Amino acid sequence: VEPDSDDILDRNRGEKFKQWALLQTKHEPEFELAVPTAPVQAPHLKSKGPARALAGKVEMPTNALVQESDDPNVLRSVEVSRTEELQTSRMLLPVTELEQEIVETVLLNPITVICGETGSGKTTQLPQFLFERAFGTKGSLNPGIVAITQPRRVAAVSMANRVGAELGVGSPKVAYKIRYDGNTSPETAIKFMTDGVLLRELANDFLLSKYSVVIVDEAHERSVNTDILIGVLSRVVTLRNNRWKENLQSTSPLRLVIMSATLRVSDFTENKTLFQQQPPVVNVAARQHPVTIHFAKKTSNDYLDEAMAKTIKIHKKLPPGGILVFLTGQAEIESVVKKLNQRFGAKDHLKSQKPKARESKANSNAANGDIEIEEVDLGDTIPPTPELDEDLKEVDSEDSGDESGFEEATIDENSSPMHVLPLYSLLPSDKQLQVFEPAPEGARLVVVATNVAETSLTIPGIRYVIDSGRAKERSYNPQNGMQSFNVSWISKASAAQRAGRAGRTGPGHTYRLYSSAVFENHFEHFAKPEILRMPIEGVVLQMKSMNLDVVNNFPFPTPPNAVGLSMAEKMLSNLGALSNTALTHSQGKSQITELGRSMSLFPVAPRFAKMLVTGFQHGCLPYIIAIVSALSVGDPFIHEEALKNSLNDDDSEDARQAIRKAYFKSQQKFASLGDHTSDLFKVLSAVGAYEYAGGGESFCRANFLRLKAMEEIHKLRAQISYLIQSTYPSINAHFVPKLSPPSETQLKVIRQLITAGFIEQVAVRKDLAEENENAGKKFQSCRGIAYKAIGIEEDVFIHPSSTLFSGEPPGYITFTEVVSTSQPYLKGLTVIDVSWLHKLGKSMCRFSKPVQAPANASLQKSESRREVIVEPHFGPGRGIKLPAVK
Ligand code: CDP
Ligand code: MG
Repeated sequence: VEPDSDDILDRNRGEKFKQWALLQTKHEPEFELAVPTAPVQAPHLKSKGPARALAGKVEMPTNALVQESDDPNVLRSVEVSRTEELQTSRMLLPVTELEQEIVETVLLNPITVICGETGSGKTTQLPQFLFERAFGTKGSLNPGIVAITQPRRVAAVSMANRVGAELGVGSPKVAYKIRYDGNTSPETAIKFMTDGVLLRELANDFLLSKYSVVIVDEAHERSVNTDILIGVLSRVVTLRNNRWKENLQSTSPLRLVIMSATLRVSDFTENKTLFQQQPPVVNVAARQHPVTIHFAKKTSNDYLDEAMAKTIKIHKKLPPGGILVFLTGQAEIESVVKKLNQRFGAKDHLKSQKPKARESKANSNAANGDIEIEEVDLGDTIPPTPELDEDLKEVDSEDSGDESGFEEATIDENSSPMHVLPLYSLLPSDKQLQVFEPAPEGARLVVVATNVAETSLTIPGIRYVIDSGRAKERSYNPQNGMQSFNVSWISKASAAQRAGRAGRTGPGHTYRLYSSAVFENHFEHFAKPEILRMPIEGVVLQMKSMNLDVVNNFPFPTPPNAVGLSMAEKMLSNLGALSNTALTHSQGKSQITELGRSMSLFPVAPRFAKMLVTGFQHGCLPYIIAIVSALSVGDPFIHEEALKNSLNDDDSEDARQAIRKAYFKSQQKFASLGDHTSDLFKVLSAVGAYEYAGGGESFCRANFLRLKAMEEIHKLRAQISYLIQSTYPSINAHFVPKLSPPSETQLKVIRQLITAGFIEQVAVRKDLAEENENAGKKFQSCRGIAYKAIGIEEDVFIHPSSTLFSGEPPGYITFTEVVSTSQPYLKGLTVIDVSWLHKLGKSMCRFSKPVQAPANASLQKSESRREVIVEPHFGPGRGIKLPAVK
């Protein structure tokens, strides 16, 4: 749809500046801003057309955010000269049509919501609209910087570049700031940043006094950071504007603009805790060409091959037009890009890119720790794609139009080259920007992207979309408390967004690599907000690390469960991450400790974070990393039950006997590390033995280990090591796959570190807990011996699969898991010494009774030195001298 030419004339810039100057001076001063009562639409907006807009006196509602100044020297606009060409292409964007309405609404209201289809120009144009109204320029009524937040670093960098170029000023006037990188200066007027960066700034300057307006972009993505940011800003805006009202001369008000694709805006606008009154919403009309959607007949798990085949087919058979392929992560994307380039890349073009130079740049980024934790691509460790219902693998009944796009306009076999580019968050920014440049003459643009290209970035010239239907999503396993990035189905809303990318320049086609049955049955309508997919302790810890203390009353756009919130706070206190007084945490006011701050840097459940943060002591870090990885992947041992099933009926009895013998031998071998004091040592020694043997299927088969689990543990160890290395360069956490066996001291330290992490999951042998006449009695085996666990009413028992089971029952243990079958069983056990609890979990101890020593002879021997070796509240990087490694 082309806007008619009158329309373009109507939006004459110079004329509008004059109108704005008028609007800012004409009406009577009224400052009833403290608690606004109704959203303000500029009253004249209903009568369209700028010429009529300010005819006559405008009555301003009492709650309008109106800035007054009679001073003729106050700057009211900034002249921008753009090229004719640029100006024309801007005029074609749907937001430009609404420029006046948008600017007026923002000027008059403390909070505005702008809602518009991806690619309508929100991100690139909004900051410019405000800049031209002298926002961000000294001498104006709003000299503070214009901030725009993005959930993704790619978008922050590339949008800063784009806006700088459109304004013809570049950096540092228009700058970006992402973690570990940025080009801002005191000259900066428009600042693109990740939402994480703004949250960190809020921790230091709650009033955001540097800024005059904050635009929270991509709010529909509902990342935890965006949600928290909107919650905080809803309060900051009121505070700042009250202050401004009281002291007009020295401050300016703060405005909040929430921008979103056209999804679920009601989460923000109709949320009474968030905004007492509904903020005005400006809707930007979509300008979208029709897109034909083709479902696959079958849904294959091998979506990489399918995506590649489809790309090649489109390239060979269909008319010119860019292809955008949605995959899930860096590794996948690079492999597809490489293969396509090998076959179809423009040879000259490839040569001119100097692969060596690019490589060294990528490396130096890694060495600088240039990663953002919230965006760490946890790679492909990650379980296979969601299981499909077998039925659904059959032919897709309704829509077998897989080929239909090819029928209509097939061209002769095309032998022109492809211009294949990757696009994902961790790609160096110069490479990211390549997607916006036109492909070389005669070559077809192919962009292989993560869902960064879904709403954040609009790539010009795309006519074909290939949608794998999958994305890597942060998810949380409540069983083991581990967060991971899993490949899972996207939502229907996301699929629609992806499809829409094909209809920007003209009619397009979207090829979905999944059947309509899978789409109907497995796709949610909308993705759940991230805050509901994360362990609540993690969210609380993150907020506390930003000095947001009152978690209980926090205006979350989608609030997590309130009981969960205060339990999380208690748990974090027990872990030592929060300062601990009963009063403060019942009020949600406990504060983060040094330890908690270090823990908050890790994207794992707090108890694992604590083990990792404190785990560097005595050279134990590699073992702790291995244990945390194993716990998060899950049990790698083949169970006795499963073994029975796998014995063949036609095996001779001797052969079966031999297999059983080998099984128990291998189990015993692994369990021998640490003398049956921890189930986690058993898995640690399996990891050690596997790596020592160089991994491989035959080792796993001979030792009754699950190959897949072992491979995943290997990858996760590498990733966590990398994460620690980049967070704390001073600690040597380089990943060395082969572990040397831990010393006796280290084994003890590891048990203490496990205790520190699982301090709430402690069980005591029942007779010791009750101090009856049986207290301290000797038992031969754990069978039938009851334990009392913190927070569990019933008696609990040691699971027969535990390496502790056949020995004497220890007095005190920690456990990683409770399973309920006939009775509650504890799994993942570690023998601990009661004296450790005082130091490792002081807040959880009551010292009313003298503690009875456990009657465990072997334990007594090995625990003759009772002292706690680890320092429970040490974090690295805090100027603490590390104990010597023994
Ligand atoms: O934010 P929203 O999705 O509404 O749109 P936008 O990101 O502001 O993009 C507006 C237009 O600018 C799109 O057509 C983009 O393709 C184009 N653009 C570009 O050509 N080069 C860039 N570096 C960024 C955007
Ligand atoms: Mg945008």
